[in-house]
Amino acid sequence: MKKAMKVSSAMLALTLGLTACSSGQDASNGTKDKKDSQKTDNKSSEVVKIVYARGQDATKATEKIIEAFEKEHPNIKVEFREMPADTGKQHDAYVTMLNAQSSEIDVMDLDVVWPAEFAQAGYTLPLDRFIEQDGVDLSKYNQGALAAGNFNGKQWAMPKFIDAGMLFYRTDLVPKDKVPRTWDELLKAAKELKGKGGTKYGYLMQAKQYEGLVCNAVEFIASYGGQIVDKNNNVVINSPQAIKGLKKMVEIVKSDVVPSNITTFTEPESHTAFIEGQSPFIRNWPYQYALANDKEQSKIVGKVGVAPLPAGDKGSAATLGGWMTAINKYSKHPKEAWEFVKFMTGPEGQKLSAIYGGLAPTLPELFKDQDILKANPFFAEEGFVNALNAAVPRPVVPNYPEVSEIIQINVSKALAGELTVEQAVANMEKEIKAALNK
Ligand code: GLC
Repeated sequence: MKKAMKVSSAMLALTLGLTACSSGQDASNGTKDKKDSQKTDNKSSEVVKIVYARGQDATKATEKIIEAFEKEHPNIKVEFREMPADTGKQHDAYVTMLNAQSSEIDVMDLDVVWPAEFAQAGYTLPLDRFIEQDGVDLSKYNQGALAAGNFNGKQWAMPKFIDAGMLFYRTDLVPKDKVPRTWDELLKAAKELKGKGGTKYGYLMQAKQYEGLVCNAVEFIASYGGQIVDKNNNVVINSPQAIKGLKKMVEIVKSDVVPSNITTFTEPESHTAFIEGQSPFIRNWPYQYALANDKEQSKIVGKVGVAPLPAGDKGSAATLGGWMTAINKYSKHPKEAWEFVKFMTGPEGQKLSAIYGGLAPTLPELFKDQDILKANPFFAEEGFVNALNAAVPRPVVPNYPEVSEIIQINVSKALAGELTVEQAVANMEKEIKAALNK
């Protein structure tokens, strides 16, 4: 009897605790909680705070999206939680939080390579019920981007934008008809231009040991006709094509056209050097364009052009990237979280992302939007649309982080000269096979 009472009072305490938390106020602030629970009969004026996490946004897009959303939803306040810019570090921060079943964040952006892993680990909420209730038409989305958020027949994340690697160049230093088309032409042009027009380097890329290195490596490998895994998930990296591609990567990284510490460069280091006018060329994602034209940050406003990445023997290849948005399974405010996800990944949110962030929409209809095209004229170019459509995905496997780490370590060693490219691909073949057969 006593025991039963104890249990029920514990349950009561728990229920009360939950009610207080779901008022949307910080549980640490007792006074606010009290005030709010007195207000429950006046639900419509109750303001719910949700926390939205994503990596550092160098552009104004996130700020603008939150501002527009809060204007439309006066009862929902969005607090932005900045996560590490390095996608691997961001991944690990979420995993730590979600493993502890933390409700600290409500909405989070997921790199296209994570949704299956997060769904399998039970970190995210399936969105199908919300999608159905609100009649969100999934057929309007880019189906490849949508599929990245689908796992075991359920939609776990909504696609926010697509990324594909591109070559950005300085229009004041490189005439349009002289834009390099092959990696060798790029090396030559970078050597000639290094030091001209106030530049310090010839080429910028991402070569630190992290996820971005995998993206850069995939582009070299694929431009020479190589693959890491084929569409049946056979490990095919030990091929003459992949070797040739990686050798070109090593040649560029070891050349004097890139900064001598290029193996410490992720996106922020490379984009900063570019917008400060230090290089005629950079490999980066589409956001680079908006950033380079941001008067408050950039010294090269109006002087940036976009082209497909240089080709190898096979042609030009861009890695498929992009971000999705998901809801923390432990969120105390799933309804409000969904409203934000729906807004951000819907036409209004994606339009703001495209205009202020230079991000490519996952709603193809937006490529016809005049305001978006005005902000990103290259969205209308055939080369850009083709690069998006032909972008090469990274291996699509549920234990992707493990596979990625194998690639990162071995490619880094090849770049540092600790392994030959032949040894690096042999290691990758063996280790990725073992990871996939687990
Ligand atoms: C971009 C891409 C993402 C990729 C990351 C690597 O954010 O959208 O898919 O993993 O860069 O740094």
